[in-house]
Amino acid sequence: MSQIKMLSHVDDFPSSPGKFKPDKSLAYIHRLRIQSSTSKLTVYLTVILSLILFMFYLSPQSSSRGVPGTRRALGSSLYSSLAVSWTGELERRVRNSAQVKSNSETRHVVLVTGAAGFVGSHVSLALKRRGDGVVGLDNYNHYYDVNLKKSRQKLLEKAGVFVVNGDLNDKDLLDKLFDAVVFTHVMHLAAQAGVRYAMQNPSSYINSNVAGLVNLLEVCKSANPQPVIVWASSSSVYGLNSKVPFSEKDRSDQPASLYAATKKAGEAITHSYNHIYGLSITGLRFFTVYGPWGRPDMAYFVFTKDILRRKEITIYEGADHSSVARDFTYIDDVVKGCISALDTSKKSTGSGGKKRGPAQFRIYNLGNTSPVPVTKLVSILEKLLKTNAKKKLLPLPRNGDVKFTHANITLAAKELGYQPTTDLETGLKKFVKWYIGHYQEKKSSW
Ligand SMILES: NC(=O)c1ccc[n+]([C@@H]2O[C@H](COP(=O)([O-])OP(=O)(O)OC[C@H]3O[C@@H](n4cnc5c(N)ncnc54)[C@H](O)[C@@H]3O)[C@@H](O)[C@H]2O)c1
Ligand SMILES: *[C@@H]1O[C@H](CO)[C@@H](O)[C@H](O)[C@H]1NC(C)=O
Repeated sequence: MSQIKMLSHVDDFPSSPGKFKPDKSLAYIHRLRIQSSTSKLTVYLTVILSLILFMFYLSPQSSSRGVPGTRRALGSSLYSSLAVSWTGELERRVRNSAQVKSNSETRHVVLVTGAAGFVGSHVSLALKRRGDGVVGLDNYNHYYDVNLKKSRQKLLEKAGVFVVNGDLNDKDLLDKLFDAVVFTHVMHLAAQAGVRYAMQNPSSYINSNVAGLVNLLEVCKSANPQPVIVWASSSSVYGLNSKVPFSEKDRSDQPASLYAATKKAGEAITHSYNHIYGLSITGLRFFTVYGPWGRPDMAYFVFTKDILRRKEITIYEGADHSSVARDFTYIDDVVKGCISALDTSKKSTGSGGKKRGPAQFRIYNLGNTSPVPVTKLVSILEKLLKTNAKKKLLPLPRNGDVKFTHANITLAAKELGYQPTTDLETGLKKFVKWYIGHYQEKKSSW
């Protein structure tokens, strides 16, 4: 359980260059020298002490990490305070988790980022079940209840999936992971999710969804052989687009939130890595994914919790009291789409391959094609929970949420064989069953 040591929240990341350790130590030495110029002895002592201090500051990076200082990217030194120390035991567990079982037809070895998250935990379990090698990565940040992430991790552990507790921005850690295991695929699901949180903590979106993505792509492009990458974009890239249903070719240059802007940036960034380095990349635009083990910041989860506690719920509505609607997509359907995206990917062509050629670049909607008004969502929950909700209606504030989403999934159906089969009522029934079981169990164990 030692790997479950808590790392600080993404917003604790130092952001100013003044916090680089080497700079700090130099400034310290300088100050000491000036102060102690009065006595010769003190000068000698100070110089010796400074040298010791200076070496102390440098040593964790050059000796224990075993990576020459010159290879350290500027970005990674920003995150060195969060660096995970790579031990023989950690490596053993990682390699073990990456083992492909004899029943695996695909023989994929997949790195799943965000594995302790909602979608990541489901995808990891499904891959493991069919015999693929799976290694997880997650930084267990505090954006929402960490206990839920730890509970998911326990499920994964039981199934034989090891989750490394580390950050996407830890370049040394990613290098070690790719040295220890030959990953055929990377399922990149780690991100700062949620739309409204950007007003409180904008830098967490940049850290995970932009800087973290680039760091991961840097490691992937240099890996030999290069892995295939499948990653989660979002339906939010359609932003203020009013043409429905949303098709992949529709415009996606009017984001309504910073979250959407970072996902759109991710699509542009992955395109450039595909173009330059021959990485095979597939972006999946998820549409409001829900289900057991879901995210506590999402409306269906908050409504369930508050209806059960008889607390008032806030329902947002559009202009003229029109309903806000979402194309709710059940988790099992999304998982199938993710796995199909992995299985239909062509190999990367950048390095390792003899014939260099353009690598595959794909983007798909993974939605349900049937938007449901939020008022309908509430009435289904009232029925399932056998409780009437206390409702407050408010106009949708202009802080990132769009009025409706509706996926055109023709392309994913054709090329991934993607076919969602779960309607909202069926899916919510499974969610509510999980919710009551999970939180009841916790209460009784206290
Ligand atoms: N759930 C949805 O409705 C939905 C919709 C559209 C897109 N997406 C995208 O799908 C992906 C998965 O979403 P989810 O709902 O499972 O969210 P989630 O928050 O449950 O999972 C993301 C996981 O990534 C981890 N993480 C975040 N930043 C990290 C970093 N820098 N390094 C390592 N780990 C980090 C978090 O701790 C978390 O466990 C995300 O990319 C999200 O943006 C989700
Ligand atoms: C859905 O997308 C496909 C392309 O994938 C397109 O041919 C079709 O016209 C779209 N349908 C609608 C109703 O927009």
